[in-house]
Amino acid sequence: MIVSTLDTSGPDYARRREAMLGKLAELDAEHAKAVAGGGERYVRRHRDRGKLLARERIELLVDPDSPFLELSPLAAWGSDFPVGASVVTGIGVVEGVECVITANDPTVRGGASNPWTLRKTLRAADIALANRLPYVNLVESGGADLPTQKEIFIPGGRIFRDLTRLSAAGIPTIALVFGNSTAGGAYVPGMSDHVVMVRERAKVFLGGPPLVRMATGEESDEESLGGAEMHARVSGLADYLAADEHDALRIGRRIVRSLGWRKLGARPGAVRDPLYPAEELLGIVPEDLKVPFDPREVIARIADGSAFEEFKPLYGASLVTGWARLHGYPVGVLANARGVLFSEEAQKAAQFIQLANQSRTPLVFLQNTTGYMVGKEYEQGGIIKHGAMMINAVSNSTVPHLTVVMGASYGAGNYGMCGRAYDPRFLFSWPSAKSAVMGPAQLAGVLSIVGRASALARGQAYDEEADAAMRAMVEERIEAESLPFFLSGRLYDDGVIDPRDTRTVLGLCLSAINSAPVPEPAGFGVFRP
Ligand code: COA
Repeated sequence: MIVSTLDTSGPDYARRREAMLGKLAELDAEHAKAVAGGGERYVRRHRDRGKLLARERIELLVDPDSPFLELSPLAAWGSDFPVGASVVTGIGVVEGVECVITANDPTVRGGASNPWTLRKTLRAADIALANRLPYVNLVESGGADLPTQKEIFIPGGRIFRDLTRLSAAGIPTIALVFGNSTAGGAYVPGMSDHVVMVRERAKVFLGGPPLVRMATGEESDEESLGGAEMHARVSGLADYLAADEHDALRIGRRIVRSLGWRKLGARPGAVRDPLYPAEELLGIVPEDLKVPFDPREVIARIADGSAFEEFKPLYGASLVTGWARLHGYPVGVLANARGVLFSEEAQKAAQFIQLANQSRTPLVFLQNTTGYMVGKEYEQGGIIKHGAMMINAVSNSTVPHLTVVMGASYGAGNYGMCGRAYDPRFLFSWPSAKSAVMGPAQLAGVLSIVGRASALARGQAYDEEADAAMRAMVEERIEAESLPFFLSGRLYDDGVIDPRDTRTVLGLCLSAINSAPVPEPAGFGVFRP
């Protein structure tokens, strides 16, 4: 059992909590933008047409009072497109079955897909495939965002490829069509296993009346080209004709029930609550990430019964490794304790990851790392090959990985601790997270040293004033690009979460992961000891 030494009455705790609550208020404001969709005018117009909003459709599809794990709600943050990227994605429970659900938001530019919508949609399909989750699309979209078509047309083909690959993998795909599904969008129902269309609302055609007139001169109307009635009676694209939106959602639930879906992974054991309140997770991460914190304080507040069987506690103490349970699922935890990873930590991690693979235990990475140690002593001690060993272990480990970025995630530490490029099944950030190739001051300093040396080599004087201005500008920009909203906007995580929700979010992920069978062990590459 972890015995917490967190002083919840001290000034440090109060200050850290205050700072985290401030960041969470900012996060709420950004999430509210996603929920607001296209704004009041478009929402009113949509309602006046007698239609449900994307989130209302999801709410009526999933089981009453069941949780919905929304993914990437900040997609497109910091871009020219509205926060949320005109689509809602997540994992919800339909008739007791965990499904990946995506819903176009037609109040945002007609639900058209921009480059961020595309990334978010592809990510949703990847999650469905990796975790063997039925995939339900709630369709109403103007297709490709035409002004940015060059970004999406060619890579966007993957949406349809993914649908058919899911089907080939035995993962059901279901399309409930509520409105327009034009051009490429027509292949969403076209490639789905099960298709429901709403009478007088669904419009599914490769080309609408104006395009048909342009192409062939034929005069036509929307209903005969792609109405729900036509597809149900004539083309056969619709399997079910729904009387209205509620009926479509009811039929969607019935389709999922008829799947007789069974999860094939591990079953959870008994669940015990942690001994310490999740609320205290607000006061653990220091505002200044250079100040270390003990990740055992986090583990004590997310693990069942706060129980943690630490592995090699006396060796490579900058990285905490050990076994725990989370909502009844056994997990191996790797958590940074003092930021820097030395050779010992890298070797310990590589061994621990192999042990988890031997016992088929999923891994949870809790990141707060400034990267691998640099300097003569460490280079001569083989820090490159030891870091490579850890990265090899992470890359080739076949057990599911879950990553939470609590604080710093810099340099190759991001890789060794299973950053986005290492395909963790899910990756979430806390509002306190920061991630970049290195810290802003270090990066600006490196640029300055390189610039100075280059000027010297050319025999020129170095402009100190310009250097100071450059450093300030670079620091500011890198800092902004290291922040979690920015990174979440680019889909480098699956969402920024309230630290208090960490246990619930990881529990939902572990449950979803176990819809798929426990993966078979595979070999590792050549370890350079
Ligand atoms: N790309 C970019 N913007 C689009 C868009 C698209 N594919 N589809 C719609 N929009 C924009 C509209 O220009 C409009 O912007 P505005 O309000 O700033 O003027 C906004 O989204 C809402 O569109 P609107 O036509 O008023 O909404 P609607 O609900 O009445 O109709 C559609 C929605 C999707 C039926 C209609 O906009 C449409 O037919 N769009 C083009 C569909 C198409 O042919 N796509 C090609 C896909 S490859």
